[in-house]
Amino acid sequence: MKALVLAGGSGTRLRPITHTSAKQLVPVANKPVLFYGLEAIAEAGITELGLVVGDAHAAIEAAVGDGSAFGLQVTYLRQEAPLGLAHAVLIARDYLGDDDFVMYLGDNFIVGGITGLVERFTAERPAAQILLTRVGDPRQFGVAELDADGRVIGLEEKPEHPKSDLALAGVYLFSPAVHAAVAECKPSWRGELEITDAIGHLIESGQRVESTMITGYWKDTGNVTDMLEVNRLVLESAEPRVEGLVDVASELIGRVVIEPGAVVERSRVVGPAIIGGGARIRDSYVGPYTSIGASCTVTGSEIEYSIVLPRASIAEVGRIESSLIGHDVEVTPAPHTPRAHRLVLGDHSRARISS
Ligand code: DAU
Repeated sequence: MKALVLAGGSGTRLRPITHTSAKQLVPVANKPVLFYGLEAIAEAGITELGLVVGDAHAAIEAAVGDGSAFGLQVTYLRQEAPLGLAHAVLIARDYLGDDDFVMYLGDNFIVGGITGLVERFTAERPAAQILLTRVGDPRQFGVAELDADGRVIGLEEKPEHPKSDLALAGVYLFSPAVHAAVAECKPSWRGELEITDAIGHLIESGQRVESTMITGYWKDTGNVTDMLEVNRLVLESAEPRVEGLVDVASELIGRVVIEPGAVVERSRVVGPAIIGGGARIRDSYVGPYTSIGASCTVTGSEIEYSIVLPRASIAEVGRIESSLIGHDVEVTPAPHTPRAHRLVLGDHSRARISS
């Protein structure tokens, strides 16, 4: 069995972070969200992995390399534009050959891995096996309709009037039968070749499509709220360790990870939290569910329930909460008078200012 991991796409809901970096590389507890997926695939015993990349291919290749750090052999498959999940299967056709494969969306986060799913697929060998979970607003997802026996009878991508609250999570298992179904797909209303349509073709042609309900935690990390939530969850089970320097005037409380080369001075860090390698925290408070990236500086400020990417600096700005701060960003105070905000914001930025 091979793996096909999708790390193309445009990441519109995470702009402006995704102007300069891939959404699959946004860190969760200081590790790119994509890496959790690669680890789950390796853990399931799969070694050959096709990685679909788009415009952000250079950043992804720099982070993942040849895959050997994960015990994987990675082949990069360039997708010229995000033309849909079924389009990604289409361009991977030669790479996949006649092997079964697991398709994994690179921005999805699943607790508990995929080993059980892969074992079930290999034992029962349906044409396709999908993963379902109940969600509050199914309109943002692919939605499955099941019959009384729990068999999948229909799928719809982001329907206005969902037939159930069962969303498709981003892990699919396929036999090579999917390729003929993909070849039948036509662009949808949003101009994409939809994998939900390809699975629909399998069902219509009488092939077996199985579903499994997710028992553990799953999130599509496509927006900031979900990113912060996944970061919270991962930090909650982080093993506390202090490998950097913490001075005697500082206090660490709860699950705190201080990575090598980090320095904490006259500050209070209340976990769960992680301070990345080479970061400097001075005269500050870092509160629960916060990940401070490598080589960041936080001075005279308070930050909580946030993700800060590498090399950002935050100085003398009071309190920051529920924020995602990109790499190399500078957050500084404005002079008190005249009372006005001076802003340099990139395209698609979102600034919330109390007036
Ligand atoms: O997260 C689960 C949902 O993922 C499913 O419920 C939907 O049925 C499925 O279509 C998908 O919906 P999204 O709108 O969230 O997909 P998104 O465009 O965010 O793409 C998912 C991943 O695949 C992401 O890592 C980017 C990558 N991708 C996406 C497209 C459209 C590609 O590599 N190539 C593409 O052409």
